[in-house]
Amino acid sequence: MKVAAIVGSIRQESFNGKLVEYMQDRYSDIMDIDILDIRDLPHYDQDEESNAPDYVKEYKRSVREADAVLIATPEYNGSISGVLKNALDWNSRVDYDFAGKPTMLVGASLGGLGTVKAQMHLRQILSAPGMSAKVLPGNEVLIGAVHEKMDEDGNLTDQGTIDFLDNVVAEFERFYQETRAVANRA
Ligand code: FNR
Repeated sequence: MKVAAIVGSIRQESFNGKLVEYMQDRYSDIMDIDILDIRDLPHYDQDEESNAPDYVKEYKRSVREADAVLIATPEYNGSISGVLKNALDWNSRVDYDFAGKPTMLVGASLGGLGTVKAQMHLRQILSAPGMSAKVLPGNEVLIGAVHEKMDEDGNLTDQGTIDFLDNVVAEFERFYQETRAVANRA
């Protein structure tokens, strides 16, 4: 499964970024994860959407051409980050890059609730008509107190979290195959 990953935090030491790198390594036999760089996407501008800069077009194409999408979100003030929302707004127009795309969500935060508010907003955003992503139901990967569950190299150290993530990835693989089978029948 060719997976485009979008990380909603652009800081160097992002736990969410490290989590996706960890997944890239751990699940390499299931998912070939390509991490997209959203740092330099310009602000979404409706005046520009039909003639978007090449960088935007390339980002959008990477999402469109992937079999599936993985989004790792931080929680900023009870929601997703501005950079992530900006990237998704670009995706929601012109080619509707997420339409029907199997999508898996993960999130890590320092607080105990592990991005639950951000992920609720994210699910709502991904169901907007311009998005219409096929988000894996349930299977909420909410990693709270992440600084206590990950070592300096970005490896998860909490066995319960690792086991849960293994299960969710297996679920996502099944979900992806089902989605593909339905699309082929149509
Ligand atoms: C935060 N943080 C945070 N955490 C949380 O659980 N709920 C929240 O609403 C917020 N709000 C928030 C706003 C802003 C602007 C920042 C910078 C941080 C803390 C957040 O979980 C922590 O910084 C994570 O480390 C962010 O994820 P990355 O950058 O490590 O991936």
